[in-house]
Parts: sequence; structure tokens; C-alpha cells
Amino acid sequence: MNQQQPISFEPPRGMRDFYPEEMAWRERVFNAWRQATRLCGFSPYDACVVESLELLQRKAGEEVTDQIYNFEDKSGRKLALRAEMTPTLARMVAARQGGLRFPLKWSAIAQCFRYERMTRGRKREHYQWNVDVVGEESVLAEAEVLNAAATALRMMGLPDASWRIHVSSRALLAELLAGLGFAPESHAAVFLALDKRGKIPDDAIAALLRDGGLPEEGVPKVFRLMEVSSLDEAEALAGADSKAVARLRELFRLAAIYGFADNLVFDISVIRGLSYYTGIVFEAFDTERKFRAIFGGGRYDNLLTSIGGEPTPAVGLGFGDVVVQEVMKEVLGDCGRQREDRVAVGFMTPAERDAAVSLAARLRSEGRSVDLSLSAQKPKAFFKAAGEGTASHAVFIGPDDVASGSARLKNLETREESAVALAPAQTDTAP
Ligand code: HAM
Repeated sequence: MNQQQPISFEPPRGMRDFYPEEMAWRERVFNAWRQATRLCGFSPYDACVVESLELLQRKAGEEVTDQIYNFEDKSGRKLALRAEMTPTLARMVAARQGGLRFPLKWSAIAQCFRYERMTRGRKREHYQWNVDVVGEESVLAEAEVLNAAATALRMMGLPDASWRIHVSSRALLAELLAGLGFAPESHAAVFLALDKRGKIPDDAIAALLRDGGLPEEGVPKVFRLMEVSSLDEAEALAGADSKAVARLRELFRLAAIYGFADNLVFDISVIRGLSYYTGIVFEAFDTERKFRAIFGGGRYDNLLTSIGGEPTPAVGLGFGDVVVQEVMKEVLGDCGRQREDRVAVGFMTPAERDAAVSLAARLRSEGRSVDLSLSAQKPKAFFKAAGEGTASHAVFIGPDDVASGSARLKNLETREESAVALAPAQTDTAP
């Protein structure tokens, strides 16, 4: 007989299980995202994880299109697991373009799949909070999106000193490249090549630039652009009438009103690896730059037309759950387990079980969360488990409590105690 190979207990490479401990961390992140979505007035939306491959594939030589998990269904349809939410958002908007009231402020928490090389901060599956404004040309859209992300970071408990948003503009880079005499057709290839700086050697980037149609003498000029270190310097090169510089200055001005300008830094090296960005682009990092990007995004005014929709300006970001958790663990320490407003209820012997069930039922009917022990325990074991758990309060019912009709509700944080009434013992009504 064929001996079956034992099945591995590990999830497939790059995929994650969320045991309660990991789930507590994930919930902390998701709660901050949800609260920021609500506070900043974005409307939640969702879509199916499976998309048509055609929508996701672009011919721009981006990494993300090589990383798509694609498959054929049983009818031969070419499908894929979404690698990001933006093409789906564009499709959904295009499908109802006549009936939607613009600008849209939409947000989703989307699980995304990318067949990535596994490195720190990169999984083959991650959750990504997407925050997008569709149908607004003004820089206020960029500011609203970035403010939502800053709000979420603060709600996660990350102090302002621990993160920075690096911002630049592809429109600015395009102006500077045009100033150097490079034809607009070469710009897209230059962007994608420059985005790889720091990831591959400069020689390899020079080769990509040449492949993209840049003449040999253009290569060092492009590298020199990457040394521009301030908006003033960029303006000196682009000219006082630069529209791109004006938009960046406006973003900094608005950020000051919102209250996150101190966390915003101009950084010409931010280009982004996705081909659809057209204007301001940004990426957030931990201040010490130990980790990969916490979130990234930018303006993509041509994506809707590229899939057949009406011309519609748009700006947004994707904020993953993996890197931010690494940053939180580094900055905040092991505080993933937070006490919640919940009462742990335990009992000493089977004789107190009904009193415990009755108390749990009453507290739950009052809307309180209750974790009821399912078997009798010694008080020491009960309080040890409660102390290590996430409940904020604990009640342990012994024979004396049932006799007196009252037990003690203990606050596990402050150790304060208060009395809680127990229902009188139920008389057996069975015939
Ligand atoms: P992205 O830069 O490819 O942009 O991803 C955004 C964020 O998702 C990253 O900064 C990172 O936090 C997270 N992320 C991406 N790939 C992985 C991975 N393999 N493992 C863990 N985390 C990952 C986009 O996806 C754009 N669609 C964002 C956007 C929305 N632009 C406009 N609207």
C-alpha cells in the first residue's frame, strides 16, 4: 500500500497563520486603520481577492507584474490573486463612473498576494490598508490621504519621532529630465531604473538607463539629479515657475495645518516601483531606516484611462501590516497583548458552576465581554491564567461566595476590588 507523506503543519512558504497572539497584533493594526478611516471620513469598500489576470498585467517592466499568483479556472479563464488593490479600485470606479459622486474617498483593508523573494518585511501574502481619493486634482487630496496614514500611525501608539514620510514628485523628476534634454518617452524607464537604487548596484542601474534609451553621457547626469537634497535646490534646477515644485510646497504648507509637517521630508530618491504614478509620490519609513517602507503611494492620474475609463485624477496609498508590526515591536516593545474590557469568570468546585454560568449570562446580557472558565480550578491557577490573559477583570466564585450571594470583581490592572451580586441558587425544577 502507498504510504502517504505526512502533511506539513507549516503554512505554504510566505503565507501566515494567525494564532491568537499574532492576531492580537494584527487587530491592533487593523483597529488603528479602521479608526483612522472613520476619523478621516473615508468610506470602506471591498472586492473579491480574485481578479482577471488581464487587469493586473501591465507591460511596464514592474516587479509586481512578475510576482502575480495566476491560475486558470476550470473553464480556462485566466485569473489571479490580486497583488494590490489599485487596479481593482480603478475597475470598480470605471464600472460606475457615471453614477458616482466625485471626489470619492474610499478605503479598504485588502489581503494581497505577491510571489516575492522572501526577505525581511516581505511575505507572499499581506494585508494592505488602501486609502484613495479619486476625482480630485488639488494637493488637498494628497494631504488628506497622508493625514489618514499619520492618524493611523499615531493610533498605533508610534511616537512622531519614530517615523517619517519621504516625499517627492515624478512630475518634478520629469521636469528635471526634460531640462536635461531627455525625451518624455524615456522617463518611465528612468523612473523604474532609479527606483531600484540601493537594491541593485549602480552599474546595473546605468545599464537599465541605457536600455531605456538614455544616451551614455546622460547616465551620470541622471545620477547627479539624485543628489538634489532640498526643495530649494530642486527649484533652482527646475525654475521658479515649476508646477511640480509648487505642488510640493503646497503639500508641506497643508501638512503644517494638519499637524504632520515635522514628519514630512523632501527626498528626491522616492520614485516608487509602480508605473502608474504621475505626480507626487511618497513612502514612509521608521526614522532610523532599519526597516522597509511602512507605506507607499502617490498620484496616479492616468490609471483610469489606461483601463478604458474616463480621465480621472486620483491619489492614494497602500499601508501593509508586516513592516509596521516590526516597527511597533522595535519602538514599543512587546505590548501586542493589551488588556480588553472583559471579565474572566472562574469557579472552585462543580457546586459553584451554575452560579458562575448565571453571572456570565447576566454580565453578557448587560453587554460585557465574559470569558467563562469551563471547569473548576484552584484560585491560584485561575488568577495566574487571568493575569497572563487579556481580560481586564476577574471574578472567582468559591463556596463562601455562593453562600453569601456575592463575589469580588477584581480589576487586574489596579488590583481594586468591588462586590458583584450572585443570583440565588437555582432550585431544581425538573419533574
Ligand atoms: P506598494 O508600494 O507596492 O504600493 O505597497 C504598499 C505597501 O504594502 C508597502 O509599503 C508595504 O507596506 C506593503 N507591502 C507590499 N508588498 C508587500 C509584501 N510582499 N509583504 C509585506 N508587505 C508588503 C501599492 O501596492 C500601491 N497599490 C499603493 C497605492 C494605493 N497607490 C495608490 N493607491
